[in-house]
Amino acid sequence: MQDYHEFLEEILIPPDKLQQRISELGKEISQDYQGRDIHLICILRGGVLFLADLMRQISVPVTVDFMAVSSYGAGVRQTTGQVRITYDLQEGIQGRDVLLVEDIVDSGYTIASVLRMLETRHPKSLCVCTLLDKYERREIEVPIHYCGFRIPNKFVFGYGLDLDEYYRNLPFIGTVDASRYHPTE
Ligand code: IMP
Ligand code: MG
Repeated sequence: MQDYHEFLEEILIPPDKLQQRISELGKEISQDYQGRDIHLICILRGGVLFLADLMRQISVPVTVDFMAVSSYGAGVRQTTGQVRITYDLQEGIQGRDVLLVEDIVDSGYTIASVLRMLETRHPKSLCVCTLLDKYERREIEVPIHYCGFRIPNKFVFGYGLDLDEYYRNLPFIGTVDASRYHPTE
């Protein structure tokens, strides 16, 4: 496995900026949901670091559940952008205030599809909190209620986000210099 220093273009968001912004988001969310419980749904796997830090900054009662989805067909997305649930929630969400926690919204197909699927289960409310918004790449309009950072159209890794499944453990968000990155077969 390549050392990330070999292909790191720049550190886009250092650890202290991540934590600062997540603390702000936690305060905002706590205010908005005052007097209610929040059922946090984390989309695996990229959202786990964000979830872990965000939930510690939320002061109203929270419960947590997880789901994983994958796109149909490797990389190529159909116009419907339908995704498939590979790991479903362990609890029902009917009548609950659900907040989806996502690492990044790119084309928007993943979150749009997840929202459609969850709506059919009749939550009381359903909102989206994403750490990163790669807005220039959006192909389908999706509601984003809470956003950590809007980022340029660059492939990023670290802090939960992977490059071929590695580097999720890094404490910062970095951009990749593709000419210097060599995925192992
Ligand atoms: P979307 O369906 O195009 O919005 O893609 C969302 C998913 O693609 C995210 O949940 C990530 O798993 C992945 N993704 C998109 N952009 C990046 C990136 O720059 N780095 C790592 N993963 C990404
Ligand atoms: Mg993801």
